[in-house]
Amino acid sequence: MAESMKGLKRTHRCTELSAANVGEVVTVMGWVQKQRNKGGIVFVDLRDRTGLLQIIFEESDIKAEGLEKAAKLRSEFVIAVVGRVEKRSGAVNENLKTGDIEIRATELRILSEAETPPFPIEADSKTKEELRLKYRYLDLRRPDLQGKMILRSKIAAKIRSFLTDEGFLEIETPILQKSTPEGARDYLVPSRVHPGSFYALPQSPQLFKQLLMCSGYDRYFQIAKCFRDEDLRADRQPEFTQVDMELSFVDVDDVIEVNERLIQYVCKEAIGLEVSLPIPRITWQEAMDRFGSDKPDTRFGMELQNVSDVVAGCGFGVFTSALENGGSVRGINAKGQAEMPRKKIDALVEFAKGYGAKGLAYLAVLPDGSYKSSFAKFMTEDQLKALVEAMQGEPGDLLLFAADKNKIVYNVLGALRIEVASQMGIIDEDKFNFLWVTEFPLLEWDEEEERYTAMHHPFTMPMDEDLELLDTDPGKVRAKAYDIVLNGTELGGGSVRIFQSDVQEKMFECLGFSKEDAYNRFGFLLNAFKYGVPPHAGLAYGLDRLVMLLVKADSIREVIAFPKVKDASCLMTNAPDIVDDKQLEELFIQVVNEQEKAE
Ligand code: AMO
Ligand code: AMP
Repeated sequence: MAESMKGLKRTHRCTELSAANVGEVVTVMGWVQKQRNKGGIVFVDLRDRTGLLQIIFEESDIKAEGLEKAAKLRSEFVIAVVGRVEKRSGAVNENLKTGDIEIRATELRILSEAETPPFPIEADSKTKEELRLKYRYLDLRRPDLQGKMILRSKIAAKIRSFLTDEGFLEIETPILQKSTPEGARDYLVPSRVHPGSFYALPQSPQLFKQLLMCSGYDRYFQIAKCFRDEDLRADRQPEFTQVDMELSFVDVDDVIEVNERLIQYVCKEAIGLEVSLPIPRITWQEAMDRFGSDKPDTRFGMELQNVSDVVAGCGFGVFTSALENGGSVRGINAKGQAEMPRKKIDALVEFAKGYGAKGLAYLAVLPDGSYKSSFAKFMTEDQLKALVEAMQGEPGDLLLFAADKNKIVYNVLGALRIEVASQMGIIDEDKFNFLWVTEFPLLEWDEEEERYTAMHHPFTMPMDEDLELLDTDPGKVRAKAYDIVLNGTELGGGSVRIFQSDVQEKMFECLGFSKEDAYNRFGFLLNAFKYGVPPHAGLAYGLDRLVMLLVKADSIREVIAFPKVKDASCLMTNAPDIVDDKQLEELFIQVVNEQEKAE
């Protein structure tokens, strides 16, 4: 039966006690991790979010009645204990922060009993994630998850204090917004008052933060919930948190400068990591050419080599036809992997196909200098030699080639490079390699829609020297856009914004929006710009991703208290769920079931 804690007040958390408190009478409260009854003496490990503390119950301290109660304790009971801190009578437990002390209980109250949990509450759980998510409130009791939540809170607090000290104002922007489709699909919210009309949940505070610049709040930030209805991956959630900022009267270097100091400060304060500044910068083009990715993992080499010139005119049709179609042939050198078994190579070919490759050509330079290859028979000895040389190949190396349109070649080799490196175990998990990727293309050609789309968003400023290309060759225009990358993951991104109406109009033209379209979607922003707009720029980090990488979690779900699973549902609450007909009626909404829709 539950007892009250009336008259008791917790004096310490479990690990706030140490040898310095020996002799004091304290009151502690928490969950029973484990109870051991040795007959006449009961040991309890008491747990709270700070850790464990050993309690000892003996008749001499707590009387027969108290000992009897202690004998009934089971895991996850919530108890209050009054007792004396003493030096540990038994062996000191080196693994425990409080391993050299114990509490001799003089009073015990059972505040709440507990059923046996569906899985043990302990670190490094082997329990299936599905079960853990269903009982997330129990999962969140586990010390490793608690450690991540505590660090997340610390990181957010450090970000707040740094930005506040730098003169940023924290301002909230609306969650119920107008839908302005860009990027991902919106989550919509029906309006009861305006039947048939919908709000959208924000994909980011982008337009509002730009409006705040128009209003003169020259440095804004927000730790903002964002919502995107997109397919989930290990580093994506439908709702996630951005550290979002915007600054006035700045250009690219100003944004980078303050953010480098933010990163340095947060890493040092949160995990004691020294980040040396400046953080390296490479252009998007260089990132693609060297790593096949706009978010390169620079913890290892294995860079791409363009061998188009070397294989031009060779006898291998796969290579020459890719070149004839305006593509390229590029490769990576998997050092020392020449003896990779055929089965494993075939698996790499399949892997490459998963990224859009039609195939993957390989050339193993065997230790005796001979070749094992899928295409050597189509080339002369000299051509092969030149190819190996271009790849800096040595006996023992495995060379892997993709031939296709550039976009596919980058995509395939960028992914393959990481796959091969992780198979080879050459990625140093202790490294934290930050990298700025700059000068992104402004526009991206959408094959399906046969039009340009904005690579970042429609308000991103072209680079000054490329402005004229907007009229002549829009695909070549580079943007004042930048991403911050950590160990191959995009941590954040941003840009300098367009603030001149003529440039903005040209941009909309390139995107195929009429002036009317543009005003329908973004009129409030375009109008605001008519009344005096400062040059401005900004950036947003994915907070979940930052925490995930700093704590070396495998998935973003490990650093979010109540995450969703792959199909965007919550296993604990069963959201999303059907609602009452009455609720739908109020919203003037009729649900068409899938079958009816198909008919
Ligand atoms: P962007 O779309 O690049 O930029 O988003 C910024 C950062 O948010 C994180 N992120 C996500 N994290 C988890 N789950 C998701 N589904 C998800 N989507 C994005 C990423 C990403 O780098 N308004 C601009 C920023 C700006 O220009 O200032 C924006 O939203 O870490
Ligand atoms: P095929 O002529 O299709 O039998 O291919 C011969 C070899 O070239 C095989 O090893 C294929 O995997 C490889 N290959 C096919 N298409 C490509 C491509 N686009 N890029 C690189 N290798 C390819």
